[in-house]
Amino acid sequence: MAFRLARALRSAARVVPRVRVVHEPWSQLNVLAAAGIVLGSSVAACKEKKKIQIKEEKKEEKKQLAPGFKEGEPVIKFADVKQHNCIEKGIWVTYRDGVYDITKFVQNHPGGLERILKAASGQIDPFWAMYAQHNVASVKEILGEHRIGHLSEDEYKNLPPPFDPYQTDPKRDPALVIQAAKPFNAECPLSQLEKQEYLTPNPKFFVRNHLPVPTGDLVDPKKYALEIVPGEDEKPVRLTMADLQDEKRFKRRKVCAIVQCSGNRREDQNSVAQVEGLTWYTGAISCAEWEGVALRDVLEYVGVPSDLGMKSELEGEDEQLHLQMEGMDRPKVGEWRDTKGFYGASIPLAWAQDPRRDVILTFKMNGEPLPADHGAPLRCLVPGVAGARSVKWLSKLIVASEESQSHWQQNDYKAFNNSITWETADFTSLPAIQDMPVNSAISAPAAKSLVQLNAEGCVEMKGWAWSGGGRGIARVEVSADGHTWTEAELQRPEGQSLTRTWAWTLWKANIPVPPELQKPGKALTLMVKAVDANYNVQPESIESVWNIRGVLCNGWHKVHVTIQPKRVGKTRLEFGYAE
Ligand code: HEM
Repeated sequence: MAFRLARALRSAARVVPRVRVVHEPWSQLNVLAAAGIVLGSSVAACKEKKKIQIKEEKKEEKKQLAPGFKEGEPVIKFADVKQHNCIEKGIWVTYRDGVYDITKFVQNHPGGLERILKAASGQIDPFWAMYAQHNVASVKEILGEHRIGHLSEDEYKNLPPPFDPYQTDPKRDPALVIQAAKPFNAECPLSQLEKQEYLTPNPKFFVRNHLPVPTGDLVDPKKYALEIVPGEDEKPVRLTMADLQDEKRFKRRKVCAIVQCSGNRREDQNSVAQVEGLTWYTGAISCAEWEGVALRDVLEYVGVPSDLGMKSELEGEDEQLHLQMEGMDRPKVGEWRDTKGFYGASIPLAWAQDPRRDVILTFKMNGEPLPADHGAPLRCLVPGVAGARSVKWLSKLIVASEESQSHWQQNDYKAFNNSITWETADFTSLPAIQDMPVNSAISAPAAKSLVQLNAEGCVEMKGWAWSGGGRGIARVEVSADGHTWTEAELQRPEGQSLTRTWAWTLWKANIPVPPELQKPGKALTLMVKAVDANYNVQPESIESVWNIRGVLCNGWHKVHVTIQPKRVGKTRLEFGYAE
């Protein structure tokens, strides 16, 4: 019930269409200038307004800290909270400085009784830092209903800081565009995408983590072992890193491939109506050369017949076999590790064994040992497929008659039609996202920037395009009005055929701006769409692909820019407005 309530609250809060804000700064200023409004005074008014807004936001943030605050509520000692540790005495917890009696809620907890009791009589902060699904207003609202008081300011200040499960995460390149700090999720910077380098340097490669980065013996290459279960009721086989890297046993393979989060470009869906998930712009994608061993070779080595997956598919859906993958990333707070909550995913066994799909177990990225954020010591790299299936920190492979039962395979990464809400979503009705649809994005010029027209009245554009399942890119087209399209010059990945393309196709174009739009200070919308080798084309509207989870956003990508206004004085630009 609580689960449905959370979903309902969330859907009510999120599926309200937002007004689309189109940033056309200069054209708005033109109007102001024409009306003779003095900008100096409006700037001061704006600053004042901003101050008030920041104050309001701070107030709001404070209210959000510990939900459910009631005027005149009692001050409770932390020692009292400690006494309430079982159903008979009542179960109390703290969140920030708030105190909550959750005795009546625990049986309804969507994450199970056993888990919620781990936080009994203590702070839930470290647990919620781990299970990010709690960090939404709807869940905090549920907690707020159980509030019974708060800790005194002094006691709260003197409490030891809650255990931070992310404290052992690696250091990262400050250029990464952080979308969430814990778990760490960050985009490849636009400045890197703009460079149009085929291989993204490791420190700039986008990061998608669901949990803290595993540390210690588990990931020590000298102590590491991959467990493989070759079939139901079969004995697991363990392979060490030395076994996997033994070139007499396994031939080395290299594959240049994209990894893209299926939520890349989610922000475009947010501009239609708020969806749930990280606010990715266009940088949840990067490309590297991965080195390792073919998964099919390893499976064969442990006794899985090389045609088992294909045969199982030929026998029909019910007989299809899957390759389940388990990661070492699992929730832990202090000494406690959640044995059921590990990251997991699966792909059809036939793909894992298909030499054309180039699935590898990788331990090197761009010629260097795999970095911690990208799955060291071993990652399963599944080219052409949603990044979520390229399981990092790989601990176990299982040949099984069913898909992975993990949350991320069953209840996430599925794209519903745009009228489905969180209340009506039935995750069993859709397949897990695997091969990705055709997509492209503009890396230059940047959104909201000022652009120069060249002598021919053109703007230079650059970007990337790719499609899943190995489908190469046939065409990329750009436009400044949505009617006339110009073909971009393509740089396809070297040595990858159009039926087995795993890396991105980089493109650039000089796009002619229609004469009626070639005016200094004029707002322009530049757009791109790609067509893959199977002639799948990106849909025009984002609305048509909008879904509650904001995945698979592949409508035409658009950026709003402004033609550089002409300077007519030291601080004045053409049309009379200030710089
Ligand atoms: C007062 C404390 C808590 C409250 C009010 C609470 C509430 C909730 C709610 C409303 C959801 C559903 C979220 C959604 O819509 O996806 C949820 C899910 C979950 N919770 Fe909690 N929770 C609490 C404490 C905990 C603790 C301490 C743990 C772990 C030790 C935990 C682990 C989980 C997990 C794993 C799920 C996901 C279940 C699934 O989707 O399969 N929760 N919780």
